[in-house]
Amino acid sequence: MTTLIENIGRLVQVEREIRPFVAGDAMSILPEIENAYLLVEDDVIKAFGPMSEAPETADQVVDAEGRFVLPAFCDGHTHIVYAGSREHEFIDKINGLSYEEIAKRGGGILNSAKRLHDTSEDGLYEQALERVYEMIGFGTGAADIKSGYGLSTEDELKMLRVIRRLKETTPLTIRANFLGAHAVPAAYKGRQGEYVDLICNEMIPAVAEEGLADFIDVFCDKGFFTVEETARMLEVGAKYGMRPKIHANELDVSGGVQVGVKYNALSVDHLERTTAVEIECLRNSNTIPTILPGTSFFLGLPYGNAKDMIAAGLPVALASDYNPGSTPSGNMKFVMSLACINMKLTPAQAINATTINGAAALGLAQSHGSIAVGKKANLFITKKIPSIDFIPYAYTTDIVEAVMLNGEFVI
Ligand code: NIG
Ligand code: FE
Repeated sequence: MTTLIENIGRLVQVEREIRPFVAGDAMSILPEIENAYLLVEDDVIKAFGPMSEAPETADQVVDAEGRFVLPAFCDGHTHIVYAGSREHEFIDKINGLSYEEIAKRGGGILNSAKRLHDTSEDGLYEQALERVYEMIGFGTGAADIKSGYGLSTEDELKMLRVIRRLKETTPLTIRANFLGAHAVPAAYKGRQGEYVDLICNEMIPAVAEEGLADFIDVFCDKGFFTVEETARMLEVGAKYGMRPKIHANELDVSGGVQVGVKYNALSVDHLERTTAVEIECLRNSNTIPTILPGTSFFLGLPYGNAKDMIAAGLPVALASDYNPGSTPSGNMKFVMSLACINMKLTPAQAINATTINGAAALGLAQSHGSIAVGKKANLFITKKIPSIDFIPYAYTTDIVEAVMLNGEFVI
């Protein structure tokens, strides 16, 4: 089955040679072809180029009528398997409580853990499925989805089985991330070390036994897990083939970046608080700094220092962090707007950070994140818009006309 998309006003983020990521100054460049065609065969990109070189016909022909085509977004950090929502805490925040204060009172992650415990696997799947299609509607084609609202072996496995089912039944490319170390559960209050033992001795082996996780995550931050505990869990995870992608430096300069880099994390995420030391550490690593501006927006935290990271030659990625507590949104276009407005990224830098670098942060740079021959046909066609810069500029305008994932139009 072949699909020809013709008369594309701008075909954006094209690559003749597949790059592992885009770093530093190169993040300002967004390669594109004006008046282009794109040919898809089955689920992969077969060819692209100027309209003058377009093939005569295909099984299916779509006239883009000057609209733009971009690779689907790659969202390297989400928590979309959760039960219910937490707008009560939104009100608490309006009334002056901080994220940490809410967590200390048993709200936050523990609130979601209780709700998740009381929800069936099917019920959880149905709720998460809606969020998957919501994200696809915003133009997302690949995502990391974390566990971490189970906090017992049984409930963590329940979450990860839901993620596996989403992998099997939706067109979104999904990587599963085991986040048993998201918070210390109520039953282990005052016995954090014993909970870390449980993760190392029981949860990780059980998750590995069922092959349920691609990655391992730890919330390495003030009031959550220490650097030493993180190191221990990442070491055990590595024995079971789970590469780290961790939460670091959201609430404090936590040492999370350094421990992540030490254990060869694919990405260190959040990074609301970093210094020159963290940037230097990342410069000598294979770890992708992933910034989550939606969290800064919703919790009123500082925005990550993307500018200095890019100036230091790093490949910065942006992700949504879609979750019920700190970022109830999976809209990557809005994430880009926040990054442009608050972190002073240019639209080109923001698009690189949500496409190629997002793919790199998922370990998917060979197959996702750009328009390249042989890559998965994961892309979206825009509505009629005047320019690429319009995308983050018009920060609430829906610009997605159609979404193709794995070579099929799903929206
Ligand atoms: O990435 N920071 C830790 N975890 C999530 C929030 C989880 C929650 O509040 O439910 C985050 O922001
Ligand atoms: Fe998170």
